[in-house]
This record gives sequence, C-alpha cells and structure tokens, in this order.
Amino acid sequence: MPKIKFDFNNMMDFNVGRHGVRLSELKTFSARAGKAFNHLATVLVDRKSRIALSLEWSKLPLQDKKVIVSIQKLGKEIASEYENVISLGIGGSYLGIKAAQDALLPPYYNDFPGVRKGRPRIYFEGNNLDPVTLSSLLSNLNPRKTFVVVISKSGETSETKAALEIVEAWLKRGAGAKFARQIIAVTDPKAGTLRKKASAASAKDPLAYRSLPLLEGVGGRFSELNMGLLHLAITGVKIAEVLKGAADMAKSCALSDMFKNPALFYASLSVIAYEKKGKQISIIMPFSEQLKSTADWYIQLLAESTGKKYARKIVFEQGAEKWVEDRSRIINTGRTPISARGTNDLHSIQQNNIEGRNDKVVTFIRVEKYKKDLKLPISEDFLSGRTLSGLLKTAQEGTAWALNREMRPNCTISLPELNAYYWGALLFFFEMATAYEGELLGINAFNQPGVESYKNYMFYKLNKPGIKKEIAEEINTNPMKKDPGYFA
Ligand code: PA5
Repeated sequence: MPKIKFDFNNMMDFNVGRHGVRLSELKTFSARAGKAFNHLATVLVDRKSRIALSLEWSKLPLQDKKVIVSIQKLGKEIASEYENVISLGIGGSYLGIKAAQDALLPPYYNDFPGVRKGRPRIYFEGNNLDPVTLSSLLSNLNPRKTFVVVISKSGETSETKAALEIVEAWLKRGAGAKFARQIIAVTDPKAGTLRKKASAASAKDPLAYRSLPLLEGVGGRFSELNMGLLHLAITGVKIAEVLKGAADMAKSCALSDMFKNPALFYASLSVIAYEKKGKQISIIMPFSEQLKSTADWYIQLLAESTGKKYARKIVFEQGAEKWVEDRSRIINTGRTPISARGTNDLHSIQQNNIEGRNDKVVTFIRVEKYKKDLKLPISEDFLSGRTLSGLLKTAQEGTAWALNREMRPNCTISLPELNAYYWGALLFFFEMATAYEGELLGINAFNQPGVESYKNYMFYKLNKPGIKKEIAEEINTNPMKKDPGYFA
C-alpha cells in the first residue's frame, strides 16, 4: 500500500534561499529535536503521566476493539431509526467531526438521499451562539425523526449547554414524553453538569440520555478518535480503517531519526523557520474541497496547543510528571495558523502569500488519486480533454513553484487517495507534529488557559454561581475604557 509522502524540499535554502533552512541548521537543531523526542517518548510510555498531562490520545489508535463494536451497533441503530442527527458541540467537540464528515462522506451528503444511502442527515449546532442558524434548523426538522448527540468533555461549555437546552425543549414539545430517548451525551464519565443530567435521566429510564464516556486524559482537540467515533458509526465510515491509518502513522512518528519521522521533521523545520527565518504564520492549504474542514481542525490544534504565554516548568506529583506555567518566563509563543484551500483561495489569500510579508510557511495537502474524475470535452481550447484532477495537481505544483520563485518556504503532504485509512493517518501525523512542536517550544501543548478569560467574563456577567472572588475583582477593576471621542 503506498504511503503518505512528505516533501520538505521547498523548506530548504537550495529552493528558497535565505528564507529556507540550511542543512547545517537542521544538523545543529537535531540535538534539540532529539531532546524533544526523548522527553515525549518518556512521557508517552508512562500511563500516569500520559493521563495527568492529557496525552492519552496517543493510545487511541490501539483502543479496545470491543468498544468500537458496541459504538458501531449504536450508530447503526440510530441510523436505521432517524432521518436527522443534530450534533451539538464546539471546539474539539466539533471540528474533528466536521472534518470527518467532509473528508470521508461523499460531497453533498445531506442534500441527496442517493448519496446518503438511507443514513441520516447530519447537522452541526452548538458551535456558536448565533440564534438564526439553530432556529432555522429546528423550524425545518421533524422532532420525531431527529436524534441528538451532544458532545462536551467538560459538560460545562456555554455554547453547547445553551443549544442543548433549546433543542431539548424542542424535542419535549414535539417528540412526546419519551423525548430523552432521542439524546445521547458524549461526556466525561464522572464530572460535569452534562454527566449529572444524563445520569439522572437514565436512572429513571435506562434508554433516556444514554451516554458514551470520553476517555480520561484525552483533551478536546485531540479527541476525534474518541468522541468522534459515534458520528463515524452513524454515517457508516469504517472506524477500523481510520484507526489503522492512525496506528501505522504512529509507528513512523515514533522513529527517533528526525529524517525518518515525518512529524518530528515537520515540527523541527517549522520551529527553525519560526525562530530563525521569521515565519510566524502557518498556512495550511489542501488542494481538495473535502479537506478544507480538516485544515480548519488543524487550526484549532496548532493555535490552542502552541499559542502560549508562559514557558512550562516540569514537576512531579504522586509519581506522575506534571507541567505548570513558569510565571517568571513570559514567551508569548506559537505560529499563527490560517486555513485556505486550493484552488479557491488562489484567487484570494494567495496574492498576499506571494507578495505580502515573507512571514509564512505554506503546507499543501494534495490527493494523488481522486475517487471520481471529470474530463473536459474535446475542443479547440488548451484545456481540451484534460481531467479536473490533472488541472488541480498542476495548479498545486504551480503554486509551490510560484512560492519558490519568491523565496517563500512551503511543503507538500501527498495522500495517495482520500479514504478512511489515509485520513486517520493524516490526523495522527498532525497530532504528533503538534506534540513535538510543543516540546520544541518548551510549553504545555495540552491546555488552553487563554480561552478561559472570555468564559469567566461571561460567567460573571451571567451570575454563574460559584465564580471566584478574584475573577469578579479582576473584571470589576479592569473595565474597558469608553472615551466618547473614539465613537464615530
Ligand atoms: O481542545 C479543547 O479542549 C477545547 O477546544 C474544547 O474542545 C472546547 O473548549 C469544548 O470543550 P468541551 O468539550 O468541554 O465542551
């Protein structure tokens, strides 16, 4: 079976001059890469540390087959009984599923019964607080024919919670007394409001609010191979293939030789480009409409994992490694990710990529063999008889060439084809690359303290019980200043 190919040639000086990485720099960097590799490897083999640090996602490719079989059974049951599924969740409880939906199901899946082959339409909500989309959806769906999967690791996220309350009330009104049988909660096995709610309901009626546990030590944005499995089962994706792809990629990403380990190689080049060549921005550009949402998933993965204020300090507690913020070392680090898609965005962001500030690395994802292809009719035109896939690949090569001409570093990940196996592998590659990047930057890549501030502000304004005194004080003593001279 052909492998995913990683082409890093255009990251190097021999293609993009002083904006590229020199072999000598890579060689010098290999000591730092080796240290990062060794440290991550040590943590990954220690279950206690893995869980304490939220690195248990690394074991998901090899998870228990019996669990998969039971999820598949559940998915089949939902798929055979309902016409629609609403998936509620945000951030890591949404982006992976959306990525899977777009990459692994045929395009226009929701629109045509022939494409869906009898399976339910999937709608995503709870990923915003926008009242228009949810009300429009609910006014068009039949509650008796709709199943709801609510996903929240913490069970406390306001967006998901608010959407669930509204959807639940809608089901209650329209689906009758047993409406709660049409809801499944995917959440923490023990903690959180959602867990409490599900447990209370299912204690009264075992078929109401059934739930699937999220594994301990698996953080939201790294959890597609855990929280996303029910979605794969409902839509008929071969879960075993996704996991096999991820497991095979895990083997390559565990090799100590940087030049053979694609995730470590990618992370190392990215960090050198970031620190030494001023490449602050990472543009991820699949040349496949179906992979755009996977690029969006990666945006969250990179931004939340590596965008950090403080360096980390390693401590040990109860036999497990723990990482704490080193408040004496403010580093404000992390590349800024942007997602784009070829060829659509060649008529948009690409102008800036080519002629704007040389502060970006573009990562292309291309697909070698498309499931379907179209040939242009024979004509006098130079496009006569060409296939769309051929044009797409030439456009990608052209884009890489044009970037090289302007000394803009870029690299290409080539999938032999887009299927469950290669998609699982691609996901796992990005997860490992992000973990290595976090190690190289010396930060905790598995928390997201920065997203708490807006939540605290909301909780305070909404009088959430139990809000800490310090938080209330901080909000009260730091109001946003409003000078009338600055309103226009
Ligand atoms: O990566 C993360 O942990 C976050 O992005 C979460 O996924 C996101 O905040 C949603 O959280 P939850 O699943 O607890 O509702």
